[in-house]
Amino acid sequence: MVGIHATTASDSKSALNIDQIAITPNDLGKVPQLVNKVEMLGNALASGQANARLQLLDVTESLLASLETPRETILRYCWRNSTAFAMIETAIDLGVFRLLVESNEPRSVADLAAATGAELVLLQRMMRQLAAVGAVVETGCDEYTSNGFSTTLSESRYADAFPTITGTTNRSILSIPEFLKKTNYRNPSDGFNCPFQMGFDTKASFFGHLQENPVLGAQFNNLMSVYHQGRASWMDPSCYPVERLLTGARRGVDEVFLVDVGGGKGHDLNEFLTKWPTTPGRLVLQDQRAVLAEATGLNKAVEPMVHDFFTEQPIKGARSYFLHSVLHDWPDDVCQTILSQLKAAMTPGYSRLLINENIVSDSGAHWQATSLDLIMMGDFAGAERTESQWRELLETAGFKIIQIWTADKWSESLIECELP
Ligand SMILES: C[S@@+](CC[C@H](N)C(=O)[O-])C[C@H]1O[C@@H](n2cnc3c(N)ncnc32)[C@H](O)[C@@H]1O
Repeated sequence: MVGIHATTASDSKSALNIDQIAITPNDLGKVPQLVNKVEMLGNALASGQANARLQLLDVTESLLASLETPRETILRYCWRNSTAFAMIETAIDLGVFRLLVESNEPRSVADLAAATGAELVLLQRMMRQLAAVGAVVETGCDEYTSNGFSTTLSESRYADAFPTITGTTNRSILSIPEFLKKTNYRNPSDGFNCPFQMGFDTKASFFGHLQENPVLGAQFNNLMSVYHQGRASWMDPSCYPVERLLTGARRGVDEVFLVDVGGGKGHDLNEFLTKWPTTPGRLVLQDQRAVLAEATGLNKAVEPMVHDFFTEQPIKGARSYFLHSVLHDWPDDVCQTILSQLKAAMTPGYSRLLINENIVSDSGAHWQATSLDLIMMGDFAGAERTESQWRELLETAGFKIIQIWTADKWSESLIECELP
């Protein structure tokens, strides 16, 4: 029987053993081997080897998990992560990170309290936790300065991740256990009836909720505009050879080279123009009206176009239609509707569909992909998909996958499709 736990007298012997296990490191036997790997990768990092830093991060995470006792692991999940999140969001709201960055010298808590209006004793408690989790640097008793993390959080494009996740996601995630219990552990499949509605006590979908809360919508768009940074981009030579699209692209003034469907504030097209400035044909950014109104930093060569991707695609016969982190927001049946509108607009033998998303490994998947998968489940009844799930989705929609391009296991892939 799923999800039912009853304690009986016969459990008491194993409970004694569990008490011992709870204070024993999770996997001490692995530690020497992991320490060796850390040393080896540290040397690789120092000699500039590509991806050594990312590999080192993964290994140090395994090292931490092996060294910790189960009791410590429980505290990390139940105490550290939630309180650190809350203190970071509060510090952002008070402007603490900006104050630290603006100052050339470390600042005392009394000074920060005077500048923010927060009560001294409250700020002391906050700053101690922020220092304990590495969000700021403690330079003396009740005195702090910024590091790279807090400096980044002084800028709203990055800091907005925290209020966005509070306003759209944390309550969805915390509702997942109750939602799944209520639905008898079925995979959520309706974006209007998923943990999001339970957590936020609303009938709205995720994007409807953003429309009802424009400040939150603007914060979400900021989050989307920066969250892919620091990874290989689909248009980099290490991922997708863009020359494949350039070769054979029609060069008339009306020809459209690339349509970014659900492209947010246009960061992908801006990046594209920086990396590929001599692109033939027009570049079109499509999204909802409120989102395009936020696209103030759009390159002048990009044409914004309000478009609902559930309706007929107005740009016919473009060289390419690009969907970045769009299909993961929707369950399969809704993706079929979005894909059908693109299929109807594409020219066989010429147009390409480019899907830029995670491909979740069937085994040994990275926590970033699995976590995002569950965020998609909680907020949208959507999903990060495995390769076989992508193939099934796209083949059912009537597309032929030409090739799947992946720079490395930490980056999103580019699924290149055409009409059969
Ligand atoms: C997860 S964001 C991805 C944004 C961008 N492609 C990126 O990768 O950063 C999904 C986008 O889909 C847009 N969207 C949602 N519903 C839409 C609709 N019906 N028509 C057009 N765009 C929509 C949202 O406004 C949002 O910008």
